[in-house]
Amino acid sequence: MNIEKLESAAECIRKSRYTVAFTGAGISVESGIPPFRGENGLWNRVDPIFLDINFFKAKPFQSWKIIKEIFYDKLGDAAPNLAHEMLARMEQRSYLESIITQNIDHLHQKAGNQHVYELHGTYKRLVCTNCNSEYDISFADLKYLPPTCFVCKGILKPDIVFFNEPIPAFAKKRSFEEAAKADVFIIIGTNAEVLPAAQIPEIAKEHGAKIIEINIKPTHFTDLITDIFLEMKATEALGEIGRLLYL
Ligand code: APR
Repeated sequence: MNIEKLESAAECIRKSRYTVAFTGAGISVESGIPPFRGENGLWNRVDPIFLDINFFKAKPFQSWKIIKEIFYDKLGDAAPNLAHEMLARMEQRSYLESIITQNIDHLHQKAGNQHVYELHGTYKRLVCTNCNSEYDISFADLKYLPPTCFVCKGILKPDIVFFNEPIPAFAKKRSFEEAAKADVFIIIGTNAEVLPAAQIPEIAKEHGAKIIEINIKPTHFTDLITDIFLEMKATEALGEIGRLLYL
C-alpha cells in the first residue's frame, strides 16, 4: 500500500472546494456484482445483443430472460460495500458534492448518497414502451416475462440504457456540469470506454481538476490525465482515505 499517495489524495480532498466522484463497475465488484470486461466480465459470458434496444423491441421475451438472470435475480440482494459507504460519509461531511455513476445497481443511494447522476439509468425503475408509465421494480412480477404495464398492457423495459439508446439528457447535462465544476475528480473502478462517459473525466481535467484514480490496474486514463493513481481495490483505497479524513 502506498501510504504517501493515499495521504496526498486525502489532503487534496480535504482542501478541495468541489470534489466529484465518477464510478464504474469496479466499485461494486466487492458487493458481489461482476464487472463487464476483464477476467470475470459479464460480456465474456453474455452476448451484448440481448441488451440492444432493437433486439429488445423485436424479441422482448428473449431479452428479458437474460436481463432477469444477470440483473434482477441478483441486484436486489446486493449491499453497499465499504467504498460506497465511505463516499456516502464523504457527502454527509461535505467532502463530496456528487457522484456520477455508470452503474445501474442503486448501491450509492442505498449507501446514503443524495446527489447521484445515473448515466446509464437504473435497474430499480421499469418504464412502459407504449405509454411511458413508470414503476418501481417492487411493483413488477418477473415470474411472467415480459412484464406488462398496468395501464395499457404495453411491454415494460428496465430503465437502463440499452446499446443504441441515447443517454438520459438530464443525467448527461448534469454530469458534464459537475465535471466542469470539480477541482478534485475521483475516478473509481472504471474503464469508461464508452461515450459519453469516457469524455467526463477529460472535461474535469480540461477545467483544471486534480484527478485521483482508484483501480486495481491502470486504465487509458492513468497515463493521460491521472495525477494520483491508487492501484488498489476501491474498498482499500476509500477505507484508508476515510480513515485519513476521520470519517
Ligand atoms: N476496485 C477497483 N477497481 C476495480 C475492482 C475493485 N475491486 N475490480 C475491478 N476493478 C476495475 C477494473 O480494473 C476495470 O478497470 O473496474 C473496471 C471495470 O471495468 P468495466 O467492467 O469495463 O466496467 P465500466 O467501466 O463500469 O463499464 C462501463 O460499459 O458495457 C458498458 O454499460 C456498461 O456501464 C457499463 C460501461
